[in-house]
Amino acid sequence: MPLANRLLSWYDLNRRDLPWRRSPNPYKTLVSEIMLQQTRVEAVLPLYERFIQRFPSIKDLAAATQDEVLTYWQGLGYYSRARRLHQAAQIVLTEHDGLIPSDKAALKALPGIGDYTCGAILSIAFHQPEVAIDGNLLRVGARLFLIQEPINRSKAKSAIQTGFESLLPVERPGDFNQALMDLGSTICLPKNPRCSECPISDHCQAYSQGEATQLPFKEAPKPPLPVRVKVYLVESQETILLRQRSSGGFLQGMWELPWYEVGSNVAGTTLKVAEEYDWLSTHLESCAQVRTYQMEYIFSHRHWFMTVLHLNIVEPIYTPHDENTLYLWQPLHSIHTVALPTVFKRVLEMGGV
Ligand code: ADE
Repeated sequence: MPLANRLLSWYDLNRRDLPWRRSPNPYKTLVSEIMLQQTRVEAVLPLYERFIQRFPSIKDLAAATQDEVLTYWQGLGYYSRARRLHQAAQIVLTEHDGLIPSDKAALKALPGIGDYTCGAILSIAFHQPEVAIDGNLLRVGARLFLIQEPINRSKAKSAIQTGFESLLPVERPGDFNQALMDLGSTICLPKNPRCSECPISDHCQAYSQGEATQLPFKEAPKPPLPVRVKVYLVESQETILLRQRSSGGFLQGMWELPWYEVGSNVAGTTLKVAEEYDWLSTHLESCAQVRTYQMEYIFSHRHWFMTVLHLNIVEPIYTPHDENTLYLWQPLHSIHTVALPTVFKRVLEMGGV
């Protein structure tokens, strides 16, 4: 039996019952596929349901504030995905009459939609013959087609893509992609692939050569870049100073404790940010209570070595200004409702807040 038929018959019997598969529409596919980028199905499940209840349509999502969207994203990490999804919803509303485009170029032009997500939406929601290759499919493909190149190299990726394209059944492309995803998560596992239960082991070149467990090869990822960072935990009258930057790169758009890369940002930055820094460091010197903590936090690409300055100032007499940055004194009793990145939650815990 051809590979696609075997795989689809297996999928029809064994498919995972996932909420975005129950009553699919292009919006639900968009939301679920963005949430599933770099994130396990189990982590997505509870948050997806809550998100769809609050934002049942693309119109509801576009009309929400960014803050609220970020709040509903809490726990998933990689918050830039939520910001881009929100922007994409607004563009779909203003430029595509509220309909998610089924045209590849228009879909790819939306923020946050790369090759994988575009392929997933076109195949699952619009039944177009497109592959959707994520990390699981790279592993499955490396074994199926016996790819010896490291799978993070583009040569391996394109060989795997070509291999899957040649197998894609035009009548059920979305199910084919999702069957491979399920196969990758339940059978073609990274360490101990369950080849004896695999519906397509007859077609698998690595299996026939006894190499399934050795593949795929991967080049070691670069270690996260070490960065020295100064973080200000400023308390005043039962409030904490937070800021939100609309530009400025890393963590942009998030509510955060004021922080600076020591030695780079502070010295060479604009006057306005320097003003805030001045204000904080002046208070630091005159301030009655200062505690300092050394902490570390590892993001996917950065390793922060933090010096946290915990200040308690009597009166929040002055709030710094910057056209690209909002500041607010957040009441302590509601600080935990703010969608703060985990690193700052750890800082609050360390400060006993
Ligand atoms: N991972 C990414 N997309 C998925 C989907 N549609 N079903 C299951 N796992 C996935």
